[in-house]
Amino acid sequence: MTPSNGMLANSQAEVLSKLIRSRRSVRDFLPDPFPQALLDEVLNDANWAPSWSNTQPYRVAIASGNVASRLKVQLVERFDIAMAAQQGGFLGRLKLLVTRHGLPDGDFKTNFEYPKDLQPSRRATGHGLYELLGIGRKDVAARNQQMRRNFEFFGAPSAIFLFVHEGLHEFSALDGGIFLQTLMLSAHARGLATCAQGALATWAGPVRSEFSIGPHYRLICGVAIGYASDNPVNSFNPGRAELKDLLLKS
Ligand SMILES: Cc1cc2nc3c(=O)[nH]c(=O)nc-3n(C[C@H](O)[C@H](O)[C@H](O)COP(=O)(O)O)c2cc1C
Repeated sequence: MTPSNGMLANSQAEVLSKLIRSRRSVRDFLPDPFPQALLDEVLNDANWAPSWSNTQPYRVAIASGNVASRLKVQLVERFDIAMAAQQGGFLGRLKLLVTRHGLPDGDFKTNFEYPKDLQPSRRATGHGLYELLGIGRKDVAARNQQMRRNFEFFGAPSAIFLFVHEGLHEFSALDGGIFLQTLMLSAHARGLATCAQGALATWAGPVRSEFSIGPHYRLICGVAIGYASDNPVNSFNPGRAELKDLLLKS
């Protein structure tokens, strides 16, 4: 079979550019489920993502229906316990450490200090989102409430959990990222909205108890998937740095 060079007609390339640039993270979904056939198409596209030596060092767990409902309950419960512990000061944190229930058990740390040079864009994104939602900078309760929505998959009927093989070190995370972007673009092209969620890697226990996951696979990210609602939060567009700021000078 002769490989196609894949070159698109100008108008098609413009369509692809438009698709890439118009994908946004959606943080409020309709509860409506979507056809399995649609998800199959998306997953089959993502399956063509390139990877290190074509090893495809990732596995995906799809949570829908009862599995999704159970996971939402389990994850929200852990979030609530962790928040209560945080607000309970020293004693609250001690209780969390002793009982361990609610203590993050993820394979990767999701709550860490941001490096100084990345703080400005992180802050601008957070502030932009909270401003749109009418949440004041010091309104910790409202911020936590918004954070909590992560663990309900922002109302989406399904979430995809991505596991990467520990044996390929950082490169499996790289491959997993390419897989995720391919998946999110294909979903976007087919009318399905997504939100990549690092937050969904905070507690791995509940996800592990729902799926049979090999011993070498580590949970790195979740993705909420479904139909976007018309909630204004979905109009959030944090923009991007100017390209020249990403290009290194010789
Ligand atoms: C690996 C990864 C993890 C993310 N984790 C979260 C998350 O836990 N919660 C959330 O609301 N958004 C999360 N996001 C979405 C980013 O905030 C979003 O991609 C970024 O602000 C750019 O906005 P856009 O996707 O709308 O272009 C994540 C994105 C990526 C790629």
